[in-house]
Amino acid sequence: MTSKLVQFAASLPKAELHLHLEGSLEPEQLFAFARRNKVEIPFKSVDEIRTAYDFSNLQDFLDIYYQGMGVLQTEEDFFDLTMAYLKRSRADNVRHVEVFFDPQGHTERGLPFSVAINGVTRALAEGERELGVTSKLIMCFLRHLSEEEAFTTLQQAEPHFEKIAGVGLDSSEVGHPPSKFENVFKAAREHGLALVAHAGEEGPPDYVYEALDLLKIDRLDHGNRSLEDAALVARLVKEQMTLTVCPLSNLKLCVVGDMRAHPLKKMLDLGLRATVNSDDPSYFGGYMMDNFRAVIEALDLDQDDIRMLAKNSFLGSLLSEAEQAEHLAAIDDA
Ligand code: ADE
Ligand code: ZN
Repeated sequence: MTSKLVQFAASLPKAELHLHLEGSLEPEQLFAFARRNKVEIPFKSVDEIRTAYDFSNLQDFLDIYYQGMGVLQTEEDFFDLTMAYLKRSRADNVRHVEVFFDPQGHTERGLPFSVAINGVTRALAEGERELGVTSKLIMCFLRHLSEEEAFTTLQQAEPHFEKIAGVGLDSSEVGHPPSKFENVFKAAREHGLALVAHAGEEGPPDYVYEALDLLKIDRLDHGNRSLEDAALVARLVKEQMTLTVCPLSNLKLCVVGDMRAHPLKKMLDLGLRATVNSDDPSYFGGYMMDNFRAVIEALDLDQDDIRMLAKNSFLGSLLSEAEQAEHLAAIDDA
């Protein structure tokens, strides 16, 4: 029965709304880029890298994630990285992606702002042409850095605004509340950019309130800890706020102790607009369908739940209503 439901999920068109391109860097690619760019890495084999992917919390992961992205040096690297992700996702019948990248993770180590964004957007255009996967690009600010540094990044992005759909907020959550970035989010909003933020992954419900009230987000990344506050849940339901939930990430970063305790099913039952996403697939054990498989098996999802998750992924996207409607109709017909 489960495998039938997994097949059903695989057959549906889906959108991915929470994916860090740098988190799709597979160990094999990490080696290949290190070799072609002559970058030293502290690993001797792919197996050794995979063994290092054992995390107790978000910071454990981030330390390795920032180190890993150091092998990305040229526009070609960002193109190859993005193209590989798009191909892999298309195989899971992902038809639309809204991907994050972390420009400060690259400018901080001396790359010009244009290198990452030009490589990424060239691949996104080719992905639409060759694979039929549509996309939006979201530029994240690293919250462990200052708001002033985020402003510098926003300024560097200005000549590229036609390639950027929105801004996000990621990296070490606890101790770096959304309020720290209120002004730069206001500036991004005035430029017409969509706004999303990671909140409630490790941080408390207060951080989710701040993301809603101060940053005025259009979409909430993770949001798991919202469930600790019934009034917050009621508000998220009422506002039909989309939550980009990342099951395998939550397991690997110990946000949940066991997949059977994952709150995704509860979120759906509460009426929250939850979606399934892969976050950093090469670090957390899989892409879109790996995440679907994990929750279908652990949480006993039924066909209605799966259909709802696929629909939510388009309803929560930045696509126009007409574009969403086509995908929603295909899901209804499945
Ligand atoms: N950067 C990449 N993945 C992240 C996550 N899950 N949370 C915060 N920052 C991130
Ligand atoms: Zn994330």
